[in-house]
Amino acid sequence: MRNYLIEDLPHYFEDYKKSIKNPKKFWDKIADENFVWYQRWSKVVKYDMNEAKISWFKNAKLNITKNCLDRHLSVRGDKTAIIWEPNDPKEEAQHISYSELYKRVNKTANVLRDMGIEKGNRVCIYLPMIPELAITMLACAKLGAIHSVIFAGFSASAVASRVNDCEAKMVITSDGSYRGNKILDLKSIVDEALEKTPSVEKVLVVKRTQNEVSMKENRDFWMENLYENASPDFVSVIMDAEDPLFILYTSGSTGKPKGMLHTCAGYMVYTAYTFKNVFNYKENDIYWCTADIGWITGHSYILYGPLLNGATTVIFEGVPTYPQPDRFWEVIEKHKITQFYTAPTAIRSLAKESVEWVDKHDLSTLKVIGSVGEPINEEAWHWFNDHVGKKKCPIVDTWWQTETGGIMISPLPFVTPTKPTYATLPLPGIQPVLMDDKRNEIMGNQVTGNLCIRFPWPGIARTIWGDHQRYKETYFTAFPGKYFTGDGALRDEVGYYRITGRVDDVIIVSGHNLGTAPIEDSINQHPAVAESAIVGYPHDIKGNALYGYVVLKETGESRQRENLKKEINQLISEQIGPIAKLDKIQFVSGLPKTRSGKIMRRILRKIAEGDFTNFGDITTLLNPEIVEEIKNERI
Ligand code: WT7
Repeated sequence: MRNYLIEDLPHYFEDYKKSIKNPKKFWDKIADENFVWYQRWSKVVKYDMNEAKISWFKNAKLNITKNCLDRHLSVRGDKTAIIWEPNDPKEEAQHISYSELYKRVNKTANVLRDMGIEKGNRVCIYLPMIPELAITMLACAKLGAIHSVIFAGFSASAVASRVNDCEAKMVITSDGSYRGNKILDLKSIVDEALEKTPSVEKVLVVKRTQNEVSMKENRDFWMENLYENASPDFVSVIMDAEDPLFILYTSGSTGKPKGMLHTCAGYMVYTAYTFKNVFNYKENDIYWCTADIGWITGHSYILYGPLLNGATTVIFEGVPTYPQPDRFWEVIEKHKITQFYTAPTAIRSLAKESVEWVDKHDLSTLKVIGSVGEPINEEAWHWFNDHVGKKKCPIVDTWWQTETGGIMISPLPFVTPTKPTYATLPLPGIQPVLMDDKRNEIMGNQVTGNLCIRFPWPGIARTIWGDHQRYKETYFTAFPGKYFTGDGALRDEVGYYRITGRVDDVIIVSGHNLGTAPIEDSINQHPAVAESAIVGYPHDIKGNALYGYVVLKETGESRQRENLKKEINQLISEQIGPIAKLDKIQFVSGLPKTRSGKIMRRILRKIAEGDFTNFGDITTLLNPEIVEEIKNERI
């Protein structure tokens, strides 16, 4: 990205103002000066927020992989595009240059084409965090196939429902995956899933663990055999701006997962622009995002955003605690990471460990550290700031969603003064508005409301695959004319935004609206507490009462439980008010979490209510076994 790095606050305000006054001109210039196009657009943006119809760069022709790889070759052919850090630190890391990646993507695109994949076909990718995951995605995009990555921790039924929803013609998987000291047998999961997926014709299997797997004749093929003989040349397929790029499933609050569809041009422009600015990316930086590529964070900020900028991006196969709880810090030191982007849940779990694990590593190459996925509580923010950033790296608390394609509200490092727990200011082009429940816009500062976005931005998902009606109803009907995020937010006295959590997590106690996040924040400030989750349960007098599930730090384990309960309520009383005190507190050894680290409150709510039926599918949880423990020890 040329000349688009915002370098100080006046520059931000100036760009922001321009982007709102004339969004067309603003995005037109960015798109024009930073990408290779086969053909220009006839219109920058066209939209109808009531029908949820949005298009960007109409009639433009491009290929995103060509923009990620081919165009860099003349200047960055030998530069490292991907550093792959394996699960086991004893296995050697791979440094894949831009020209090597280009060749591997071309060969893979030829394999896919030879296997019958054409523009518009859906390909489900169910792979661990190995280079082939990135390579197959880029190969799909190069030939115009629509990739749908399924996180390689999902169960067979979750795989089958996604494959069926998008009617994938091909599945790409591996003989297994390493996660810490575990080996997962991905191929058998795929085999089980494919018993019920009539659309799948071919399965490509990448070798990783050398697990013995069964191969079904005429359906299953080893990738390496086909790859070996494939040609290293492949001409990019010319894509229309609004042709689908990928489908990524995200869970809805009810019903089956939603296949969010992102399209080529807008997604490309938006991820490239936001990556550059949010991470203050400069040419020789080494950037690491710890998310899995199976989530939107990995799509936008491990793969596309960094490669569009010609950056070096790290793909990490392992987990933060293997072989020891200093793996993150070790990798930062080893690869001289300059930007480190992770999640509050990871920060909280590592903060539970002794700080010596961090201190024994040289983290001095870091310049920006970031957080994404859920509100970061004050304690975790300070721990991250003090021990990882050493108080010299700005923390970018980035708010966005699978649906938004890229980061929407975030500090810009060295530009926006940070404030703990605040995502701060919208990026250029983004117009947040707060709405009350009567659909009126809430003006002014020091207010809270439902967070909506007024104007489309290039990265917004265009539809839910196969169900435009659901897309319209979920995001565009609650507040007509606006995109509704499902989140609540507070705007402080200077206009900074703080995401207060999903609006459906609000609990009304004696007529008072209480957000779970601020209560959890104050509980988590107790020195003995590692983590907590609050839910409401029916109460005769108050309507709802609060039930708290609290995970203690190791140092808190020896404390007397009754005293802890008193101290926790005292803290809440002080910080929020006696109204927010918990009626019941249960100490648990962990909280049920989704693979992306979100607490499954639905289950906690049921347990608090004493309803042990219909927990739904808990196999997609990170730790399904915890549910039984919590149930048995309910108070
Ligand atoms: C939801 C979206 C964006 C990639 C990862 C999650 C919550 C996300 C923040 C943040 C507070 C956040 C919101 C949002 N969220 N980032 N910085 N502060 N909350 O993507 O699974 O689509 O989830 O995550 O509630 O709506 P996702």
